[in-house]
Amino acid sequence: MAVLTIQGGARLSGTAEVPADKSILHRALIFSALASGQQTISAYSPGLDNQATAQLLQRMGVGIKTIENGFEVQGVGGFSQLKAPAEALDCQNSGTTLRLMAGVGATLENQCLELTGDSSLQKRPMGRLAVIEELGAYLETTEGKAPIKIFGKALSGSQVRLKVASAQLKSALLIAGLACEEPVAVIEPKLSRDHTERMLQSLGCQLERTIDQDQSHRVKLLAHPKILPARNYHVPGDFSSAAFLLGAALATGGEVSVRSGINPSRTGFLMALALMGATVQQSAPKDRGGEPEALLQAKGGFAPPPGEVHIQGALTVACLDELPLILALAAGIPGLRLRLRDAGELRVKESDRLAAMEAVILAFGGQARAFEDGMLVEGRALSGAQVESFSDHRIAMSAAVMALSAKGQSEIHGAECIPVSFPGFIETLRTLGVELGLAAESSLG
Ligand code: S3P
Repeated sequence: MAVLTIQGGARLSGTAEVPADKSILHRALIFSALASGQQTISAYSPGLDNQATAQLLQRMGVGIKTIENGFEVQGVGGFSQLKAPAEALDCQNSGTTLRLMAGVGATLENQCLELTGDSSLQKRPMGRLAVIEELGAYLETTEGKAPIKIFGKALSGSQVRLKVASAQLKSALLIAGLACEEPVAVIEPKLSRDHTERMLQSLGCQLERTIDQDQSHRVKLLAHPKILPARNYHVPGDFSSAAFLLGAALATGGEVSVRSGINPSRTGFLMALALMGATVQQSAPKDRGGEPEALLQAKGGFAPPPGEVHIQGALTVACLDELPLILALAAGIPGLRLRLRDAGELRVKESDRLAAMEAVILAFGGQARAFEDGMLVEGRALSGAQVESFSDHRIAMSAAVMALSAKGQSEIHGAECIPVSFPGFIETLRTLGVELGLAAESSLG
């Protein structure tokens, strides 16, 4: 186990680069594997989750070469060219890998794809993948969890309604939809991130996207090429990684600039910051194959509004992965009262993120009370603490942001999970002026 030691009090300042967007890169790897021919994916410093997806596809017969800052993929030209190995494939810590690849497995006629992962992934709910059976495939889980087996069949189009907004489930269905002749429609109660939709459109698929009267979001894959065309990808920086640096700059009254993706279905964090009395400037926008990116600059601190800040409904979904960070930031802003709601999904991420953040905030001397689908946080000055990462990369980095604004020194135990999404996090903080150390648990005595 690695222990990250952070001295509070530094003001972060400078320009940083973040790893390639984790969500977009999973999809770029899968769609380039299915397309026909040689393709290049430019992706800076991919995290371990993305490497898990690349390794799975290699095991299924796809030629994938790691190059400097990216991958070269030799697309096999359709699902029928993929082979499910006899033994289970290891998705490691990556829920997105497992759920998206279940969509691939559903199309492999007369084959069985077995998927598993590390101890954290084996605790997460996989019974929800049963929606794939509505297209004709058959799913076997281990009491609703991984390892799972997906038995591929000849699929037919259908309309599937999701109980909770989930980009992973929606994407698994749309991927499987590429093997259907009839349209596949997915309806979700709120809009989850739409990277799959954008990428499919860039590959010549015809999609219809509408909002129903009850505000649920519907996407229908109307038509698709038989074999996806080859294209090169330039994956923008990961907004979720950039958020930690922007949040850390604001928490310490510093100034940080970072380029990253700004897909509106993902950037609820910026809206949450505005509600908390902070702003992030955007400049130099660019389109990256259907995905917008920009230079983001955070400067100054927070001017907390009177009354309670509410993060709920569609906003909760649009900042799903940034919620631990939002709670961490709120806890350190004296005078701020923040209520998070509609966030029950946080209980089934890499850790129970509501329970984990409540424990972390209390350890730093903060004030937080978790309830079933959210938390009430009252901001105050924090003091250095010794905390656990709960083996969850986003909890570890949220705790690091709290440590930066806390008085004195803090220790984050179990920091080895950070490269799951943000390899280089520690070096990046160093270049932005933070004093920190990393040691193996045992060497600390
Ligand atoms: C992801 C979707 C989100 C998110 C996860 C990545 C994706 O999960 O939390 O980190 O790339 O599709 P949901 O399936 O709950 O939307």
